[in-house]
Amino acid sequence: MHQLTEIQNYIQSAFGNTRFEKEPAHLYKPIDYTLAQGGKRLRPVLVLLACDLFGGDINKALHPAMGLEIFHNFTLLHDDIMDNAPLRRGKKTVHEKWDNNTAILSGDTMFVIAYEFVAKTDPKLLPEVLVLFNDTARKVCEGQQYDMNYETCEVISILDYMEMIRLKTAVLIACSLKLGAIIAGASDDQACRIYDAGIELGLAFQLQDDYLDAFGDESKFGKSIGNDITTNKKTYLYLKAYELASAAERDLLYTLNMKGEHAVAEKISGTIALYHKLGIDHLTRTVIEKHHNSALELIDSLKFSAEACRPLKTLMNEMLSREK
Ligand code: IPE
Ligand code: IPE
Ligand code: MG
Ligand code: MG
Ligand code: MG
Repeated sequence: MHQLTEIQNYIQSAFGNTRFEKEPAHLYKPIDYTLAQGGKRLRPVLVLLACDLFGGDINKALHPAMGLEIFHNFTLLHDDIMDNAPLRRGKKTVHEKWDNNTAILSGDTMFVIAYEFVAKTDPKLLPEVLVLFNDTARKVCEGQQYDMNYETCEVISILDYMEMIRLKTAVLIACSLKLGAIIAGASDDQACRIYDAGIELGLAFQLQDDYLDAFGDESKFGKSIGNDITTNKKTYLYLKAYELASAAERDLLYTLNMKGEHAVAEKISGTIALYHKLGIDHLTRTVIEKHHNSALELIDSLKFSAEACRPLKTLMNEMLSREK
């Protein structure tokens, strides 16, 4: 068994020791820029934690775990173009520092590099791992498309929102846990159970991301606050506000929503003020905790000792209280 910090350091140094710079520099520099920044490295850490939990050798999970992290970072390059986001991890996004074409092509290359790392899985396990990875990657794209489609809807149901975040975010968190389980040789039943725990954890994680996008501190979050409001994202916050608003408040929400680039600051501050008035911050915390607790219950149903689950549960707690 390994401590959480040991696993985090292992992932950190593996990325620290891997250079992605090659020629042409314009293609590879943005890749190095992105991967050297770090971020929380949650997905590869989850892979190794699950592998360790099921008694596997974490060294055998390292490369596929790095593959998932590279895949995640690829999605961010494209996502930041799609969301018109200027800032990530406190630094300029790739499309801002370079341009859209660079972020598209460096992103595509990262997708390829992700496969190269995943392909380093034990050949006996690779077919199963590729089915999981392909299914996950396709679903992330589906979720991203729903996310974009919904920008131009006045309202969608909370169920549609949950399905969208399940696809764009939760499946990759779930895939991370299941990948670790598969590499450790867990039974299908156990692997599926930890996948389901990952879905709940991932839903809580995206809800938290949406929460921080409105209520976070930019210097900690590393992304510009209010970007979801600027881009008319149909977040849980927005949908719950829409649901609870009086007729007059709904008009206000609509008017704020229609504001364009010239009135972004007003649009953001007005919407956040309405969220506060309607108690959206507390309601969002409640639903985050609900999904977090469902994830914990599913982990408990695996019947490992409290000691064995500690590293994973410690990370889950960090995720719940994160500000970045
Ligand atoms: C950001 O993911 C994208 C979402 C799914 C919310 P993270 O918050 O894990 O980003 P980094 O890698 O730590 O920067
Ligand atoms: C992220 O959703 C989902 C993916 C990148 C696949 P967001 O668009 O909310 O993520 P951030 O806030 O930009 O990190
Ligand atoms: Mg985004
Ligand atoms: Mg997005
Ligand atoms: Mg976000």
